[in-house]
Amino acid sequence: MDYYQLLFAVGAIFLAVYYYYTSVYNYWKNRGIPGPKPSMLTGNIMGPLTPKTCLATAVKKWYDEFKNEPLFGIYEGQTPVLVVNDLELVRDVFIRDFSVFMDRGTKIFDKIEPLTQHLAFLEPKRWKPLRPKLSPVFTSGKMKEMFPLIAECAGNLENLLDKVASSEEPVNCRDMTVKFTIDVIGSCAFGINTNALADENNEFQAMGKKLSDSSLKQIVRESCKQYAPSLFKLIGGYLRTKEIDDFFIDLVRDTMNYREEHNVFRPDIIHLLMELKKHPEKIENIELTDSLLTAQAFVFFAAGFHTSSLTMGHVLYELAQHQDIQDKVRQEIRNVHKSGETLNYEDVKEMKYMEKVFNETLRKYPIAPRLTRVAMEDYTFKGTKLTISKGTKVLIPVYGFHYDPDIYPDPEKFDPERFNEEAVAARHPMTYQPFGSGPRNCIGARFARYQSKVGLATILRNHKVDVCEKTMIPYEPDPRSPILIPKRSIYLKLSRVAN
Ligand code: HEM
Repeated sequence: MDYYQLLFAVGAIFLAVYYYYTSVYNYWKNRGIPGPKPSMLTGNIMGPLTPKTCLATAVKKWYDEFKNEPLFGIYEGQTPVLVVNDLELVRDVFIRDFSVFMDRGTKIFDKIEPLTQHLAFLEPKRWKPLRPKLSPVFTSGKMKEMFPLIAECAGNLENLLDKVASSEEPVNCRDMTVKFTIDVIGSCAFGINTNALADENNEFQAMGKKLSDSSLKQIVRESCKQYAPSLFKLIGGYLRTKEIDDFFIDLVRDTMNYREEHNVFRPDIIHLLMELKKHPEKIENIELTDSLLTAQAFVFFAAGFHTSSLTMGHVLYELAQHQDIQDKVRQEIRNVHKSGETLNYEDVKEMKYMEKVFNETLRKYPIAPRLTRVAMEDYTFKGTKLTISKGTKVLIPVYGFHYDPDIYPDPEKFDPERFNEEAVAARHPMTYQPFGSGPRNCIGARFARYQSKVGLATILRNHKVDVCEKTMIPYEPDPRSPILIPKRSIYLKLSRVAN
């Protein structure tokens, strides 16, 4: 091949690649749908291997630019994704036309990662019969039954607080809240006294750390799953976190065996899973393998401790910067929960101001800055001419709604009064999505509220949090994480306050 032929061949390849990518990125334009300009290869989402801005910031940036459009289009890599802004259309996706949008579109590799076949990731065929079987763990009756277990963990937290306060060192808030939520979930979901608060070398604690870890291996694994699933099928086995899988598989099996042999009953997830195993006929169209059952216990652990401990950390971070609000929360805790008495279920229900603080925290720091669904059939959005085809991913810009000044004036301000009854009633219900909406919303929302409020009441009743020189101000989100977590640990000063 001479020089000109080589040049011609290279030019032709370049043009073919260019044509392919530009035609991919005309998908929305050809359908009359506006959207931000995508970059070659990565589209509008940078992906964990090329983190420039965090996902929450990206969601807000597109939303601010296109918020007057009912719908706009973006690209995740080369995949077109439709963003739904119009709040009635959001309601259609989450609730009214849920039968079309039941799927979250997560890729599961059962054989390589058995514990990923859990409720949050499952495809509709297995999710639909399973969800109603697992929901009973979180009814208000069950919460009441579990309450003494949560209160017991609060007692362990109380013991730790004085020790931490007397050291006068800045406290890594997340460390403290993680230990508490691991204790709670260990006790309420697995019937195990994990004692993470007292024991630094606790195994549950170690597994929690491994799960929250954003190591290079984890980043490569997640990127590979998302962008190169065929490659993941080949090399995924080398990337999996075997210790976590083995730990939970052994734990669930041993716990079930122990209960069976000793006739132990506890009203928790393990009990529900044992019942399903005994009566597989009660659940249709689904093969109840041991790994499928274990994966359900695993997700309650993973989703249960991580999200609530993060949110408790965010509450403390805001209260340290707003002492007036912190004093008001403490006053309410002391009014409701008298000194010397054990905190009970009704006390927590009465903490209305704490509830507003919790809600406002989740507005400012929604763990999931965007939510997704995938259309299971061709679908035409009401009042529009747009029909999306089966398999199209739809995105709800949660972080955009939560920081829209037309919905939440002065959105950077931490103002719990946004959640008084009148203010809430005046807003469209779809503008607040910390737990998602509709039949596929967060199954553990009630549990999350209770465990977080008990933990916070325990911390704030006799202790005060303040900012210190190690506190990260302003808040910086971790650009490598798809969920909203701080870039660095949140350090605060903890001191005892007089009764
Ligand atoms: C503050 C704490 C929490 C936050 C902010 C949170 C947030 C969320 C969000 C945004 C979703 C997706 C909802 C959607 O797509 O509409 C979700 C799903 C889920 N959450 Fe939570 N969550 C929290 C605590 C918990 C707890 C304590 C548990 C269990 C003990 C839990 C278990 C789950 C599960 C299993 C799903 C998947 C549900 C399904 O697909 O059917 N979460 N959560």
